[in-house]
Amino acid sequence: MHDFEVVSNEPIARDIYALTIRAPKLAAAIRPGQFVNIAVPGNAMSLLRVPLSYASANPEAGTVELWYAVVGDGTRRLAQMPAGSRSDLLGPGGKGWSVLEGCERALLVAGGIGVPPVLCLAYELAARGIAFDVCLGAATAESLVGEREFRELGAGEVRACTDDGTAGYHGFCTDPAAELLSQGGYQYVATCGPEPMMAKVADAAGQAQVYCEASLERMMSCGFGACSTCAVETVNGMKGACMCGPVFDAKEVVW
Ligand SMILES: Cc1cc2nc3c(=O)[nH]c(=O)nc-3n(C[C@H](O)[C@H](O)[C@H](O)COP(=O)(O)OP(=O)(O)OC[C@H]3O[C@@H](n4cnc5c(N)ncnc54)[C@H](O)[C@@H]3O)c2cc1C
Ligand code: FES
Repeated sequence: MHDFEVVSNEPIARDIYALTIRAPKLAAAIRPGQFVNIAVPGNAMSLLRVPLSYASANPEAGTVELWYAVVGDGTRRLAQMPAGSRSDLLGPGGKGWSVLEGCERALLVAGGIGVPPVLCLAYELAARGIAFDVCLGAATAESLVGEREFRELGAGEVRACTDDGTAGYHGFCTDPAAELLSQGGYQYVATCGPEPMMAKVADAAGQAQVYCEASLERMMSCGFGACSTCAVETVNGMKGACMCGPVFDAKEVVW
């Protein structure tokens, strides 16, 4: 459990906010692909925390940045937390990305609000000198996030796509992902976004014989293995996303 203070909490796209919190021990401990479970004040009837991945961490400043979409009561209350307000969170939780040793080039594929866990991975790849390309998808230009950050981190190619063609390529980001994978040269694929998107990426990675991991989203009532609300069907039986995931070997998931 970590207490935190809100440093800033501002919209960055349509219904998407960037929340920076000060929580020094968390900032030092959290690893790409892990998540936090935030207690959001403002509704005495709600015991549920909001699970969120993180977009970046700055151990020197003791801060962690999270990007979240406002979709319901919890995230609406989160959007109302001003700078200086305080609460607590559980974390870091779960198992994050496991980029293979010897990986020289990775492909990152993120759709919608699946960008944050993939972005924090890009920070690690850049720090380790591993080259990466990115395929980004969003419904429309106003909800496309992360393009600038991936470019600034030194991504080789950033192929942004929108479903309605208002920015980047007109279509799903699974198409450029499959095209890049068919060209070869990757040792690792990481994906997060809508499940049909991740299933397609997993399939394309399988065909290209490249190891692929996917970060799955599930309802999470406890976040630490006590409630079974976060079950994921795998070829090895049901597994809890909060402890065995949220990042899974894509071949293990029953899509
Ligand atoms: C490991 C993990 C990491 C996540 N990372 C992020 C992130 O970085 N950014 C982000 O915007 N969101 C992320 N989510 C999803 C986020 O937790 C939910 O959007 C949030 O809990 C919704 O809460 P709410 O009270 O606002 O909405 P609710 O009123 O609870 O629900 C609104 C809608 O969201 C759906 N929903 C509710 N909880 C979840 C959930 N846990 N997973 C999927 N759908 C849900 C409901 O079915 C409903 O359709 C993550 C979820 C998990 C499990
Ligand atoms: S969220 Fe309770 S067991 Fe995973």
